[in-house]
Amino acid sequence: MADSFDAIVIGGGPGGYNAAIRLGQLGLSSACIDKRGTFGGTCLNIGCIPSKALLHASERFHEAQTDFAKLGIKAKVDLDLPAMMTQKTKVVGELTRGVEFLLKKAKSEAIVGEAKITAPGKVEVKLPDGKTRTLTAKNIIIATGSDVAPLPGVTVDEERIITSTGALALKSVPKKLLVVGAGVIGLELGSVWRRLGSEVTVVEFLDRITPGLDGEVCKQFQRILTKQGMSFHLSTKVVGVDSKGKTLKVTVEPAAGGAQQVIEADVMLVAIGRRPYTAGLGLEEVGVALDAKGRVITDGHYKTNVPGIWAIGDCREGVMLAHKAEDEAVACAERIAGRAGHVNYDAIPSVVYTMPEVAVVGKTEEELKAAGIAYKVGKFPFSANGRAKTIASTEGFVKILADAATDKVLGAHIIGPEAGNLIAEVTLAIEFGAASEDIARTCHAHPTLTEAVRQAAMGVEGWTMQM
Ligand code: FAD
Ligand code: NAI
Repeated sequence: MADSFDAIVIGGGPGGYNAAIRLGQLGLSSACIDKRGTFGGTCLNIGCIPSKALLHASERFHEAQTDFAKLGIKAKVDLDLPAMMTQKTKVVGELTRGVEFLLKKAKSEAIVGEAKITAPGKVEVKLPDGKTRTLTAKNIIIATGSDVAPLPGVTVDEERIITSTGALALKSVPKKLLVVGAGVIGLELGSVWRRLGSEVTVVEFLDRITPGLDGEVCKQFQRILTKQGMSFHLSTKVVGVDSKGKTLKVTVEPAAGGAQQVIEADVMLVAIGRRPYTAGLGLEEVGVALDAKGRVITDGHYKTNVPGIWAIGDCREGVMLAHKAEDEAVACAERIAGRAGHVNYDAIPSVVYTMPEVAVVGKTEEELKAAGIAYKVGKFPFSANGRAKTIASTEGFVKILADAATDKVLGAHIIGPEAGNLIAEVTLAIEFGAASEDIARTCHAHPTLTEAVRQAAMGVEGWTMQM
């Protein structure tokens, strides 16, 4: 096997494996190295895919328990948690093997091992059998992703004090689950265990859940989750955990300081964010610059300060999302091949896969106000959408923001059924620089949830018809 490539990709997640695939398509040879043992990175192994498998299964369980009767279906439902976990593991296995197949198809050598950059153009890989292999390439792409941010003073054991990884593999349903952090992981995985029977309490440092999302969406989102049985302690921080007894005793206090309170829980999920992962990569020795948050600094073309070394995905700045890593992978591979790869960061959607889903793309009203951009708003509730009625899922709304002068779509915020799929239309509109009128005058099939997007777009110019 050759030890010299056009590019060496370190990390086999959505950033790394997509970079290797695109390099192959462009006729460049590559090796894709991951130390995990299976390819697909955080996303396929312990992130997007297993979480969505459990979200789907727990949704069906909950629906069968609570909503079937309304549809005239009588069912007696029992939870088989081991079988639910087996199904999740099966999906993960199929997809990670799929990535190996795609790498092979792209003629990228998939190498299991821990990579270290020893000099520009040179990578040493510690193989599982203890041997070392030295590889060379004109280009090295760092795609080493991210890891869980720790909560100071709290030791994770992945059984009682867990991260998302432990929350994807609990052996029984905890009676009481305390979630630290009302972000995406806390709310998605909190929803899974709530639906499977846990009492879920969420402690959030800031004064709102999912900070950064549109304020109106946040409020409705919290109302819906509260109705589903989650309870929230906002503006609150965890100051200590006593794990000596049978249950955890978690001491919390107001974020600004004040009277303490003890919350008892069987399991505590720490979900306060993720941080870039570059440990052991040799970046200091080679002189690759990191920012104050430990992210690899790159220019707009994903080049680091060291010639021939590039970085993409969670380990560099920006949102930590699989499709953002994928887009950067394509652009970076194209740059390496001498093409003009580019990512439009205004058109990167983001979805929270709760029930209902929350999906956003582009700017929030808060951001537009802060930037002094005049905008118009069109809004449409799912309670007025025929299809939402027929599927008995009428909570939420679509909100579209467009430039007041040009009508160019600037953002969309959706909370409601299938929001994650609906956002694609507005993402495309933003990518094409479309006006809200373009969406409003496009024929949408009836009866579909997409009509709610159209009616919201009509609302920007004040001619929503079905409300
Ligand atoms: P990663 O996927 O983290 O891959 C990096 C890989 O590099 C890892 O496999 C690691 O083993 C390897 N590596 C690191 N150092 C070395 C080394 N020295 N040598 C060899 N290999 C190394 N995003 C979404 O868009 N949608 C979702 O629904 C979603 N759900 C998520 C749910 C959870 C629970 C979590 C934790 C994350 C979720 N994410 C989701 C985020 C998503 O997983 C990440 O944004 C994405 O995986 C980042 O891709 P990446 O390629 O940059 O890094
Ligand atoms: P997050 O950044 O989404 O949320 C973390 C939350 O914890 C924030 O609300 C923050 O204010 C709060 N927090 C921080 N410190 C705290 C403290 N000491 N006490 C209490 N609260 C505290 O991070 P999360 O949920 O861990 O997810 C990490 C990343 O993974 C996300 O940012 C996202 O990029 C990715 N992800 C994406 C998913 C998706 O696209 N559906 C699903 C899951 C993860």
